[in-house]
Amino acid sequence: MADIKARIIGTGSYLPERILTNFDLEQMVDTNNEWISARTGINERHIAADSEQTSDLAVNAARKAMDMAGVVPEEIDMVVLATITGDFPWPSTACLVQDKIGATNASAWDVSAACSGFVYALASAAKFIETGTCKRALVIGAEVLSRIIDWEDRNTCILFGDGAGAVVLEGQEGENGVLSTHLHADGSQWELLYQPGFGSRYPASVSGIEERLPFLKMAGNEVFKMAVRSMYDVAQETLKFNNLDVTQIAKLFPHQANRRILDGVSKRLKLSEGQMYVNVDRCGNTSGASIPLALDEANHKGLLNPGDLILLDAFGGGFTWGAALLRW
Ligand code: UT7
Repeated sequence: MADIKARIIGTGSYLPERILTNFDLEQMVDTNNEWISARTGINERHIAADSEQTSDLAVNAARKAMDMAGVVPEEIDMVVLATITGDFPWPSTACLVQDKIGATNASAWDVSAACSGFVYALASAAKFIETGTCKRALVIGAEVLSRIIDWEDRNTCILFGDGAGAVVLEGQEGENGVLSTHLHADGSQWELLYQPGFGSRYPASVSGIEERLPFLKMAGNEVFKMAVRSMYDVAQETLKFNNLDVTQIAKLFPHQANRRILDGVSKRLKLSEGQMYVNVDRCGNTSGASIPLALDEANHKGLLNPGDLILLDAFGGGFTWGAALLRW
């Protein structure tokens, strides 16, 4: 059988219209622009309108990716959606997206790997394509984190934003496409970054709402250190696996968590100026959406050329982390 690779043939993204600046946050919690900017590199983030759900953001990004790819919804065999803020606990948001876009021939499921979700989703879809089980997949990262943020917690509410990014993957013979994927997890660290309620451990209750269980909890310092280490390690693992030197990577797309985390990874990997794509200053941390959002931005800016080696590098709750190497 010919060697089939999963190639990205279209990208798309969507950011809600409303922008929340650090100055806006000054009016909401005890914080200030200088602190947020210096500690996180974030200046503003987008917030979904009340009428917008995660599936709406996903659909907007998906339609743009399909337009660029020149693919109609009926030609999509699989919708894989990375999110931790689905429209409902179930059914999957991927199913809602499949219906809204009219991808009537596609299977659909969500991937739950927090901020690593897009890399996990891409890796899964790529395997289906490589085995010939599927020809075209829509891989989406979409989040409305603003609905699970505790807007009274200044440690977390300053970090996150809403958004979506999508790619169309197509199986093609040749050298271009996903070259390797590397996924990891350490479930012993789940309590450092999670949303306690409401699931089977803490079912819905009035007292649970009073205890603010439906909101994201994070031990920022521990997450910070683990993120830098894991993103560095998995990038190195990917380079070694493919016999590459970091100078051969045209662009690295990290999960956009915090400017200081990205600087730490960049320094350890000895990246040159501009080698890492960063938009956390304008989007904040959009979890599973951050990598495809950044990828689409860079694509529209003409920063990605055929043949370029592109490294995706993510870390998130679980803990989960992973990387994917692509030849554009
Ligand atoms: O996708 C992965 C998701 N998670 C992340 O990316 C988060 C990773 N962690 C971080 O980005 C950082 O840990 C934070 C940005 C969350 C915090 O930065 P830090 O440098 O680790 O600060 P800290 O938690 O050590 O807090 C330093 C001080 C504390 O005050 P005291 O105890 O020294 O008086 C905090 O109470 O800063 C205070 N502080 C704030 N001050 C102003 C915490 N949040 C704020 C705030 N505004 N928003």
